[in-house]
Amino acid sequence: MNADQRPMTTARLQRLKQKGEKIVSLTAYDATFARLIDEGGVDFVLVGDTLGMVVQGQETTLPVTLEDVLYHCKMVRRGIKRALLVADMPFLSYQITPEEALRNAGRLMKEGGADAVKLEGGTNIAETIRRLVEAGIPVMGHVGMQPMKVHQYGGYKLQGQRKSQAEAITADAEAVQSAGAFAVVLEKISRGLAKELTASLKIPTIGIASGSDCDGQILVSYDMLGLADQFNFKFVRRYLNLADDIRSAVQAYTKDIRTGKFPTNDESFE
Ligand code: KIV
Repeated sequence: MNADQRPMTTARLQRLKQKGEKIVSLTAYDATFARLIDEGGVDFVLVGDTLGMVVQGQETTLPVTLEDVLYHCKMVRRGIKRALLVADMPFLSYQITPEEALRNAGRLMKEGGADAVKLEGGTNIAETIRRLVEAGIPVMGHVGMQPMKVHQYGGYKLQGQRKSQAEAITADAEAVQSAGAFAVVLEKISRGLAKELTASLKIPTIGIASGSDCDGQILVSYDMLGLADQFNFKFVRRYLNLADDIRSAVQAYTKDIRTGKFPTNDESFE
């Protein structure tokens, strides 16, 4: 656990990169998980649009709305004391105009209690990032494999394998940095490209499925805790098997009720 109990800031994330200390992050979607994840010592918590898949049971993140992220962000806010709270901007909440992006990012901060927002995209949204940053909204970028483009990719495929693709990802990361983002997520690119970007960018890189050379790492908490066991990804390490534990607990509870073993007199009131 990070010994420093002061609330996390974007400036402190920058200093962690400069000192070569790893940045740690997980997603959270409700107050209970957010409290436990914060107490576990992560540096930032992301209310990811992955909530569409792991909480809502959708096929992709595309159906997630701004109202959905706001709803979950408010809950997560109540659970966090130390970590920085980053809210994902969902599909089409920031791509239409910079003005709309500003209005929506503002709602995530004012109503949702977010400390920062995250946007997928690169050169195409640099102007939008600049507008948000000018208004005082800290922005985290997200380049490489962008889950919102799943239908263009034809699946959640490794990105940047061709030279031209790798150059485009590098241009995206540089554009996000020049526009004023304080950090950038690198998703599902090769270790080599992630290492190069981490060395060349001044802002911290946060890797997912991008190898160990990034300045920090993020995973979806439901994957890392073994809750979303319908998904099985090479890049996820499961630190628990909560799905198995929950099924076993429910079976034991079911059996106890059906055999009259729960509740006992001690678990009842006279
Ligand atoms: O939505 C999300 O959870 C994310 C992380 C996987 C980076 O964007």
